[in-house]
Amino acid sequence: MDVVTDPVRMQELALEGRRRGEKSALVPTMGFLHEGHLSLVRLAKERAENVVLSSFVNPAQFGPQEDLDRYPRSVERDLELCEQEGVSVVFMPEAGTMYAEDASVKIEENALSRGLCGGSRPVHFSGVLTVVAKLFLLAQPDLAIFGEKDAQQLRLIRRMVRDLNFPIEIVPGPIVREADGLAMSSRNSNLSVEERAQAIVLRRSLLAVEKAVAKGERRVEILRDIVTQHLAEAPLGQLDYLSFVDDETLAPIEDLGDQPALAALAVQFPNARLIDNLTLDF
Ligand code: PAF
Repeated sequence: MDVVTDPVRMQELALEGRRRGEKSALVPTMGFLHEGHLSLVRLAKERAENVVLSSFVNPAQFGPQEDLDRYPRSVERDLELCEQEGVSVVFMPEAGTMYAEDASVKIEENALSRGLCGGSRPVHFSGVLTVVAKLFLLAQPDLAIFGEKDAQQLRLIRRMVRDLNFPIEIVPGPIVREADGLAMSSRNSNLSVEERAQAIVLRRSLLAVEKAVAKGERRVEILRDIVTQHLAEAPLGQLDYLSFVDDETLAPIEDLGDQPALAALAVQFPNARLIDNLTLDF
């Protein structure tokens, strides 16, 4: 397994692999790997001979009041896990080598990024898209795997690939959950014991929505009430947003219709902001 820190070296290696006709898959991460990330690596391995895992806590996607300094890190353990999973290259650049001091080009998206997480994290998606575009150019993958927990991110990346003609297939990876249903996230490790116990309300409230929809409920107002009732069981969590949107365009919907919808929410706990979502397909 190669561990590469220099972006120029990463691109050289990727181009060499491409010239040899090898197929490669990229798994972009911010490190502190968990089973969710490893499931993406396994998907990548099924599809490509070379798997590049990037591990970079990208400062450009954190707002000034956000948790960049507290984002968990575990380089040694991550490297061990990558080795065990048969990753070919781990790309771990330093922020100083990824961005020139006077970097002045960014990728902006102006439709899908407006609501949900984009509503409360204004710089976030521009930072994500810019770094993902850079990772695509450095790692030159044929395909890239993104987890469905970050539902809005996944749709934005697909849109970027479409709009900017990246010759890269975007492959979604299903959400991986803890035994009690909490979606795996590196940020879970920052939760206190009490917060962790209450964090299960995200999943519980979405399951209650799914149940109501299965029984025929279509009114978003009623579905919202169901979530709010569940969230009352987690007094340490503050609802950041709860959105019912079209699954593709992310446009808000009044009542569920025939089109697939996405129910997504973010809850701010004192030590971590958590997200989860559910696709409602009829
Ligand atoms: O989902 C993440 O971990 C990050 O947003 C990503 C895609 C690695 C970009 O920094």
